[in-house]
Amino acid sequence: MKGIVLAGGSGTRLNPITVGVSKQLLPVYDKPMIYYPMSVLMLAGIQDILIISTPRDLPGFRRLFGDGSSLGLSISYAEQASPRGIAEAFLIGGDHVGTDSVALVLGDNIFHGPGFARLLQRNARALHGCVLFGYEVTDPHRYGIGEVDELGRLISLEEKPKRPRSNRAVTGLYFYDNDVLDIARDIRPSPRGELEITDVNRVYLERGAARMVDLGRGFAWLDTGTHDALLTAGQYIQTLEHRQGVRIACLEEVALRMGYIDREACWELGQGIGNTRYGQYVRQMAAPRALLRAID
Ligand code: DAU
Repeated sequence: MKGIVLAGGSGTRLNPITVGVSKQLLPVYDKPMIYYPMSVLMLAGIQDILIISTPRDLPGFRRLFGDGSSLGLSISYAEQASPRGIAEAFLIGGDHVGTDSVALVLGDNIFHGPGFARLLQRNARALHGCVLFGYEVTDPHRYGIGEVDELGRLISLEEKPKRPRSNRAVTGLYFYDNDVLDIARDIRPSPRGELEITDVNRVYLERGAARMVDLGRGFAWLDTGTHDALLTAGQYIQTLEHRQGVRIACLEEVALRMGYIDREACWELGQGIGNTRYGQYVRQMAAPRALLRAID
């Protein structure tokens, strides 16, 4: 399976912060926002990742990750000239996907919860059609919404409905088989002028090939769309990391635990980060016995 992180857009809701810098490079406590969705793809077992962003912001992502080899990844980059819709990721990323399946994650989505790695890997392996990840929210009109019947089968999908039929938001993480490339090519811009990911998902739904996996109440799916939400997300991560002494979405640790790099390489990465608490943590992870607790 290939991975795509869509990290473009104008981020105007965070102005003036995003006038000079990409939203997805802003800090969420101790690391850039894009680390969180990157960790999701890595935990799913994906090493071949395309980052899509604006011509203005791509250089920043390249500075951050290079070709990805230090993390045992292969990272490539592509431009989205203007935000013409989430589904455009598959027109831009067609060559990258090739004949494979693909996971798309939005560069501003933060997920955290127990058993997430196993859930991702299980759904990536048994993929027929598409898998969406649902999360119950109190403000469903702000999101793509999925409605399920009493047997848990997905029966409708709507984008930001005025009168939502359910509280289950479709989060910004999507698994697709290779048909997505043809489907995305065939959809037309919506009245707001975007190639809507919900229109892609609806084609799968009509074919009876869309599933929604519920992320349950033990999960956190954090919003970063406003100044307050961004600060709250940072405080949530800070609270968990301080309380438990672990780091969330530490890519060096994820790479080591997933077997993408060895201890020595992990240690070197920690050295390169220097004498911050984050750098110390990465070096600690590289020490023997540090990984006794299994990744989940
Ligand atoms: O976060 C989940 C939601 O994401 C879903 O529930 C919705 O169904 C989906 O449409 C989307 O809604 P948003 O209102 O959050 O989409 P937004 O336009 O804010 O874009 C989400 C991220 O993707 C944002 O960081 C910018 C980036 N983006 C967006 C578009 C439309 C791009 O990089 N390029 C684009 O063309």
